[in-house]
Amino acid sequence: MGPAVFQNRHAVAVALVGIALLSGEIPTVAQDLDRVKAGLEVWKNSGCADCHGAFADGDKQRDEAPTGANLRTSRLDSAALKLVIACGRPGGAGMPAFEEGAYKTRACYDRPMGEEPTDLYPAGRKLTPVEINDVITYLQARIIGRGRITKEECLFYYYDQPDDCEDIK
Ligand code: HEC
Repeated sequence: MGPAVFQNRHAVAVALVGIALLSGEIPTVAQDLDRVKAGLEVWKNSGCADCHGAFADGDKQRDEAPTGANLRTSRLDSAALKLVIACGRPGGAGMPAFEEGAYKTRACYDRPMGEEPTDLYPAGRKLTPVEINDVITYLQARIIGRGRITKEECLFYYYDQPDDCEDIK
């Protein structure tokens, strides 16, 4: 073991690696983007856009569907988003319950466990808890609190058919 001064260069390198690991910034951003993209796919393939519109502003894609809320102006926090997506809004409002087992094996809104309420709009397909988290991550990253729809947002959505964004400035 030499005096500490001879080990300085090594110590600096170790410290730099340590800082990079501790801050963890680069991997976290990449992971978040993966989750946002996964959430976008959930949004697209579980019928959300039928009622809420591609960009979740309430401009629904399927004429016969109930008109969904404008999620761009929603004030719901993560817990409230999770509840409404998992359990829907009974009472004829038109928002289906998406969680696998909602009401049957997972309690919703203080109701006793049993069948889904009959005044719930049926979901096209059910989602896993991971899919629900992903779609919430997507909504929080790209939709909630956003103003008008930008070209950049349109291209993020229609990455596979950018021509659809020609009309957006
Ligand atoms: C069949 C139509 C329909 C589908 C499909 C649908 N929604 Fe909805 N959604 C609605 C309606 C209608 C409301 C407003 C309910 C109300 O007025 O209480 C709503 C409300 C919501 C709200 C609450 C907004 C707020 O601020 O109160 C969220 C969040 C939401 N939907 C997310 C989703 C997501 C995510 C999906 C897809 C997984 C989805 N919805 C699919 C019709 C739909």
